[in-house]
Amino acid sequence: MIRLVGVTKSYRVGDQVIPVLKGIDLEVGRGEFVTIMGPSGSGKSTLMHIVGLLDRPTSGDYELNGQPVLHLPSNHLARLRNQNIGFVFQNFHLIPRMSALRNVELPMVYAGVPRARRRDRAMELLEKVGMANRAHHLPNELSGGQRQRVAIARALANDPAVLLADEPTGALDQQTGAEILRLLQDLNASGRTVMVITHDPHVARAGRRILHMVDGEIVREEVRDESR
Ligand SMILES: Nc1ncnc2c1ncn2[C@@H]1O[C@H](COP(=O)(O)OP(=O)(O)OP(=O)(O)O)[C@@H](O)[C@H]1O
Ligand SMILES: [Mg+2]
Repeated sequence: MIRLVGVTKSYRVGDQVIPVLKGIDLEVGRGEFVTIMGPSGSGKSTLMHIVGLLDRPTSGDYELNGQPVLHLPSNHLARLRNQNIGFVFQNFHLIPRMSALRNVELPMVYAGVPRARRRDRAMELLEKVGMANRAHHLPNELSGGQRQRVAIARALANDPAVLLADEPTGALDQQTGAEILRLLQDLNASGRTVMVITHDPHVARAGRRILHMVDGEIVREEVRDESR
């Protein structure tokens, strides 16, 4: 469902061109759970932003669901992203002045879902992540793990086939992190494609495939035995 071929990304800083991704080839099939590890600065987030249509590569090709996407205009890409991709970040990125419920509704506002349906669906999603009893709390009235649950509910708002998470447990204690990981695994078991960036080897082992990035390249891929 995700296919990158020869993807590069460089940034121009002053009169220097800094290569950040140096030719990434990557295929991820529907329903896979892939994790990405690698040192700080190796290009993990940059890669995830490209996969998530938040950023365009400098060169290379990208097919999502068999459709080349890089030639599409930005508004079309934004729509594809809204419909197909859910994002979860290390620091949750919730909107501080909005309740948990309103945060989860927001992607549905952009997708044009009518108000009553939006509300029902947001409530359903909060239930699914175990946060229905905090629906009317503001983010700063929630613990880190609870905020991340809300962020996951928001990522699921438009029922995306792909869930991308950039260090989703990075700001959480071990036990809370484990709960969030379990939630991601459940979502994968129900058919979603999941990609997770992590510095935690324990989290990385949740993936059937672990991609190791160094200096803008995927230098190694571990495929874990399913029959543990
Ligand atoms: N807008 C930008 N302009 C210039 N350089 C950038 C820009 N964004 C990222 N970079 C550079 O790209 C490289 C990769 O950054 P990226 O955020 O992808 O790393 P990462 O692997 O996610 O690291 P971390 O584990 O610290 O999150 C870094 O060297 C960074 O300085
Ligand atoms: Mg990063």
